[in-house]
Parts: sequence; C-alpha cells; structure tokens
Amino acid sequence: MTEDLQNKAALVTGASSGIGEAAVRALRADGWTVFAVARRAERLAALEGETGAVAIPADIAEDDDVSRLLAKVTEAGGIDTLVNIAGGARGADKVGDASTADWEWMYRVNVLGTMKLTRAFLPMLRATGQGTVLNLTSTAGLDAYEGGGGYNAAKFGQHALTNALRLEEAEHNVRVIEVAPGLVQTEEFALNRLGDAQAAGKVYQGVEKPLTAEDVADVVRYAVSVPHHVNLDQIVIRPVAQAATHKLIRKG
Ligand SMILES: NC(=O)c1ccc[n+]([C@@H]2O[C@H](COP(=O)([O-])OP(=O)(O)OC[C@H]3O[C@@H](n4cnc5c(N)ncnc54)[C@H](OP(=O)(O)O)[C@@H]3O)[C@@H](O)[C@H]2O)c1
Repeated sequence: MTEDLQNKAALVTGASSGIGEAAVRALRADGWTVFAVARRAERLAALEGETGAVAIPADIAEDDDVSRLLAKVTEAGGIDTLVNIAGGARGADKVGDASTADWEWMYRVNVLGTMKLTRAFLPMLRATGQGTVLNLTSTAGLDAYEGGGGYNAAKFGQHALTNALRLEEAEHNVRVIEVAPGLVQTEEFALNRLGDAQAAGKVYQGVEKPLTAEDVADVVRYAVSVPHHVNLDQIVIRPVAQAATHKLIRKG
C-alpha cells in the first residue's frame, strides 16, 4: 500500500508538543528523514535525541527564521513533504468581547505561518516532481461555534488557503492534503487557549475517549504515505463521542 520510503523526507512544524511531536515520531518510525520545527529548542533537542529527527528551532511566522530554515533544509538534502501542524487557539471570547492580541496571534501562526512555510518550500517541492503539503487545520475551520470566533476565523482562513493551494499546485504535481481534527486531548492546546489547568480540564471532562495526538499522527502518516497520485484531499477526524462540532457526549 505504501510507496517506497527510501527517499522520503518531511519537515514537520509544531514538533515540540502534541500532534506535531507525535507526527515526528510516527514518520521516523516509518524510516522518514524528518526536520522537526518549533520555537522551543530544548524540547526539540530531546526529540532529536530520542527519534533521530533533525531539530531546527524557528518561528514559522518570522521571515528571517523561515529563510534560515530553508537554507538549513536545502543544505541537508531537502524535503518532498511539508507538514504544517504548528498553530493553536488563544481565548474563547465572543466576538463582542474579542481580544485583538489573541486574534492577531491566531491569524499570525495558523494562517501567515502556514503561508510563509509553504511559500518558501514550494519551489523545492515542485522540483521533486511529486511533492506533498499537508495542512493540519481543524473542524473549527469547517463549523463556527460560540466563543470560537477568533479560532474559527484563523482555521477557516487556513482551510481556504489549503483549497486554493490544491487548485494552484495540481499542475506541478504537488498534492495538498487537509487533516481537520475535532476534539484532541493534548497537553498544551487547551491550557494555552484558556490559560489555566482547571479550565483546560473542563474541555475534556466526561468525554470518554477524546482523540489523542497519536490518533491524529497516525492519520497524517497514512495520508502522506499512500502512493502520490492518491490525494486524501480533506480528512475530518473526530472522536465517536463528538458526532458533530456541537454534539459532544459527556458522561458523569
Ligand atoms: N488539540 C486539539 O483539540 C486540536 C484540534 C484540531 C486541530 N488542532 C490543531 O492541531 C495543531 C497542533 O495542536 P496541538 O493540540 O498539538 O497543540 P500544541 O501542543 O499546543 O502544539 C502547538 C505547536 O505549535 C508550535 N508553535 C506555536 N507557535 C509557533 C510559531 N510561531 N512557530 C513555530 N511553532 C509554533 C508549538 O511549539 P513552540 O511553542 O515550541 O513554538 C507547538 O509545537 C494546531 O494547528 C491546532 O490548531 C488541535
């Protein structure tokens, strides 16, 4: 089912925690060369030691960092697969109470960061003759919800750029995959969004089995490993307990 993985090389952003970190592990376990990117160098160094991924600390929304990243990856042999996972949410305010700083953070990382990395690496991906871009969006990019406005706007934006990219790059034989998860229980996502452990805990309270980072990473690994002419162009993945964005089964 999977292609020859001999020459498979991926850059994975968001590699210092959660889904990105799990995706690095999954791809390394399959023998991929992996460049692991996030801002926190110590966490990346530990992952490098454990998995053999190449750690490159960088802020994906900073132009100088992106240039440096491109130079390092080029020097190290390049990639054929770009996995944009870095992103996240800040706050759960209604639009009427929106924090400009939170909205700017979400737009900067989820939309501009994805665009900047993609723009920088597209020439390399095209040159391989069979490149892949996988963008990790969210069901928050498909359905809006109360208190989700800023995150919805950012993820809808990332979803839209993914659709445009797929149309633009087909002629260059670059396939473009979107993975849109629902509720995933990761260590930092809800904590960073809501600011304290108690509020973060409530997000998952009573939900029997939210998705794990490994569940999503497994789907990422699968989607980038099927033969290149097969494009799983949009994959929505939710826990069974979440039949729709607004229907989450909580017990107890
Ligand atoms: N958890 C969920 O329920 C869920 C559901 C659907 C979609 N998602 C999406 O899945 C992705 C990963 O989420 P997660 O749950 O794994 O969250 P997470 O553990 O908070 O991971 C976010 C990652 O993004 C990195 N990052 C943030 N800003 C960055 C920047 N400016 N430059 C480079 N890296 C940056 C972080 O690393 P540093 O802080 O070290 O830079 C971290 O590695 C996000 O795009 C999120 O929106 C999450």
